[in-house]
Amino acid sequence: MAGQPGRWALIVHGGAKEISPEEEEDNRSGCLQALAAGREVLERGGNALDAVEASIRVLEALPVFNAGLGSALNILGEVEMCAALMDGQTLRIGAVGALMGVRHPVSVARKILPEEPVLLVGDGAFMFARDHHAELCDPRELIVEKRKESLEQLHDTVGAVALDMNGNVAAGTSTGGLTGAMKGRMGDSAIPGCGYYADNHIGGVAISGHGEGIARLAAAAQIMGAIDRDGPESAIAKALGQMSRVGGDADAIAIDRQGRLGWWHNSEHFAVAMTASDTDEPKVWLKKEEELSANG
Ligand code: GLY
Repeated sequence: MAGQPGRWALIVHGGAKEISPEEEEDNRSGCLQALAAGREVLERGGNALDAVEASIRVLEALPVFNAGLGSALNILGEVEMCAALMDGQTLRIGAVGALMGVRHPVSVARKILPEEPVLLVGDGAFMFARDHHAELCDPRELIVEKRKESLEQLHDTVGAVALDMNGNVAAGTSTGGLTGAMKGRMGDSAIPGCGYYADNHIGGVAISGHGEGIARLAAAAQIMGAIDRDGPESAIAKALGQMSRVGGDADAIAIDRQGRLGWWHNSEHFAVAMTASDTDEPKVWLKKEEELSANG
């Protein structure tokens, strides 16, 4: 069954992590800002891919999230980033891994999407970004003070999934990866079927959490395989419930082709915001319990 004609939906997240009381407000407001940017695209009839890119660009610009500015530092104290965008209409993918020196890795991924390669990494990704007029910067400009001081092991990715008025689905991710990771390390966020996937015939999913575990489970592929039967939330819960087999946290957001939204997490917190053409107010939550208690 397809979604209702003209219906759109959008869900964004700020990463699998533990949120300190001082950072709660920044996480809520950051997710709502990201949602507003994507919503603006969908409301005027724009496509799901543009909405996902617009939302993720907002998250990349806010230092509270581990993506773009404020990314986690690798073992050399550098910011290396991964990001991806997938178009559920064409199944085209653009992704970057271990990329340095750009402000918005998701927009570099967007520029790769029409090209033959699916994924570019390291120097090759940077050369592509430079040649395609991406916003370059000194890699040190993406480092924020609190990441230098923090021993907390981050692995939180940001992400968004959208369904547009024409029934097109898109999914995207962006991350600074794992704190203290080996140089050149890529987790799940750039790898299709692991950290994300989108297909108009099924839906879309974006995952956050421990990239190695997520990749070993091919978690996005598992969720996509179960969405039709189980619905987004149960499909996510079932797939990520298997993280105990490989270790680490994993959380996800998803929309199915009917426009049903779902999210689930096994990290302490998972900031999520969502909206749709037939809902009144955008919603934002820092954990599932908040949503459940609000819904009585
Ligand atoms: N999920 C982000 C990473 O592990 O790199």
